[in-house]
Amino acid sequence: MCGIVAVIGSREAAPLLLGGLRQLEYRGYDSAGLATLKILGNDQPGLLTCRKAKGKLVNLSSLVEEDGSPGHLGIGHTRWATHGKPEVHNAHPHTDSLSRVAVVQNGIIENYRSLKQELETDGVEFVSDTDTEVIPHLISRELRYLQEEGLSANEATLLKAVQRVIKQLKGAYALAVIWVDTPDAIVVARNQAPLVIGLGEGEFLCASDTPALAGFTKTILPMEDGEVALLTPLGIELYNHQGDRQQRTPSLLTGGEYFADKSNFRHFMLKEIHEQPDIAELWVARHLPAGLPEEAPVALPFDSSFYESIDQIQILACGTSRHAALVGAYLLEQFAGIPTSVFYASEFRYSPPPLAPNTLTIGVTQSGETADTLAALAMETQRRKANQDPAFAPRLLGITNRTESSLARQIPNILDTGAGIEIGVAATKTFLGQLFAFYGLAINFAARRKSRSSQEILSLCNDLRSVPNHLRSLVDTHDELAEELAHIFAETQDVIFLGRGINYPIALEGALKLKEISYIHAEGYPAGELKHGPIALLDQRVPVISIAVPGIVFDKVLSNSQEAKARDAQLIGVTPDLQGDEIFDSLLPIPEVSELISPLLTVVPMQLFSYHIAAHRGLDVDQPRNLAKSVTVE
Ligand code: F6R
Repeated sequence: MCGIVAVIGSREAAPLLLGGLRQLEYRGYDSAGLATLKILGNDQPGLLTCRKAKGKLVNLSSLVEEDGSPGHLGIGHTRWATHGKPEVHNAHPHTDSLSRVAVVQNGIIENYRSLKQELETDGVEFVSDTDTEVIPHLISRELRYLQEEGLSANEATLLKAVQRVIKQLKGAYALAVIWVDTPDAIVVARNQAPLVIGLGEGEFLCASDTPALAGFTKTILPMEDGEVALLTPLGIELYNHQGDRQQRTPSLLTGGEYFADKSNFRHFMLKEIHEQPDIAELWVARHLPAGLPEEAPVALPFDSSFYESIDQIQILACGTSRHAALVGAYLLEQFAGIPTSVFYASEFRYSPPPLAPNTLTIGVTQSGETADTLAALAMETQRRKANQDPAFAPRLLGITNRTESSLARQIPNILDTGAGIEIGVAATKTFLGQLFAFYGLAINFAARRKSRSSQEILSLCNDLRSVPNHLRSLVDTHDELAEELAHIFAETQDVIFLGRGINYPIALEGALKLKEISYIHAEGYPAGELKHGPIALLDQRVPVISIAVPGIVFDKVLSNSQEAKARDAQLIGVTPDLQGDEIFDSLLPIPEVSELISPLLTVVPMQLFSYHIAAHRGLDVDQPRNLAKSVTVE
């Protein structure tokens, strides 16, 4: 989490830093800060100005506007608190005791406690509760040692000091450092947290993610783990972990540039919900064009032998991506006939199942930056590589919405969910994109392994072709319906979501959406589980939203819903109109479609219901409290 930016060039740094941070606010927004360095003259230390503000970036912008922050070089930070409350004294940049070194950091310094103790023994006084503050103090100490060894105060010395300090740090981090004695140099470093350098005309901008480069440059140099770079107006010097100089050709950013625009919508989340029909249409046009050759139903980057060589699949993901993976697992098992397991990436990394042969490991992450998912995939790759038997070799696939992300650099085979940049912190359209990726995968597995007849595959393809139109009428009609219902339930304390089979993950997703943006307690359950405990929660104050789609579990879900109604729960049905109106107190009706494609539709009322409750409660829908779009810490 957190976003960092560093800029050096001939323009005023503060506006560039603020512009970059604005594009990184999705990574955290509980406080923000920047530090700039102004050159005062030859052989004079630069003037360091540090501005910090609690809350959204707009507070920092106002502060900088009022008080200024001069200089052509600077570093900036937008924070998602890990260590220490979101207060000004914990906001970055952090400095050493004499305010000569300033640092911004994204990540967690895991051994900060022992480093802090050591520094305190040396007499250093800490002013924040953060893990980051050890870094400027350590750099300051190394600078002192280096100067005592006879090195002069120049950028090479700053570089050396940072190189020495990162050898002392444990954890995943990306950082940027400035020093008053080198007012024309910035040192940046990364270890398991993203950092990309943008090369402009006589200026450089380094940031946690490419959107911060929007409008600045398209020429980029993504940094690798363990690398340190020295940025000066003359150019970039890049070094690996061992301190060897690296030469790498910059690449061109493709499609990574965007400026956040809400169009006429009140919130990005609502806009993104409304974009879903177009995303579905694009997917259908790309993967299911008319006159489809039977042998290759959906274009994916694998040859036939790949599909035949897989005996089982394991999927690693977090949050909403994990819910998409659960729908995917249903499709892969029930339609394509391949045993599939879904794991929380954060659990898998420390308790993976015993290695099984011929296993495809899929990592699902919309941002492509989720630390747990990346680490779980890396761990799985390592342990498979350590096994000599080719049956255990890593077979990896990534599903992401960010094809330039760390995931895409870590894994060669990527399925692009193609949903376009998502700004709202609550995932909506990218979830739909992930679902489509799994439909494509399941169709391919079923076709290549002949686990389904051509007729069955064709029928699923035809059903999928109908989704864009269904989605279009759903988003149009449900906006108002969901809003009305949301107003009735806006003050409720708890909501239970029920689903079964392929719609159980949609119940989980409905509950997650409601929790994260409206702060209402919600739980998703497989409807059959209700009677094994959760039913004790029910009374007239607890609404139950039940997803009931005609298919193998339809009658079962209706019975489970009746059980809830018998306990006085207010029952809301996400179900085709005619089927449910006698059981349910209210309806969020969905078109009658085959059960197999229904999650692509049933999720929409969930998204709209949560959205309207949160909007009605006057909450910050796009940037809910305590959350961040990209979870780059463990
Ligand atoms: C929910 C949400 C989170 C993310 C989770 C994983 O709306 O956005 O639960 O799904 O943090 O993020 P990615 O998909 O980027 O790995």
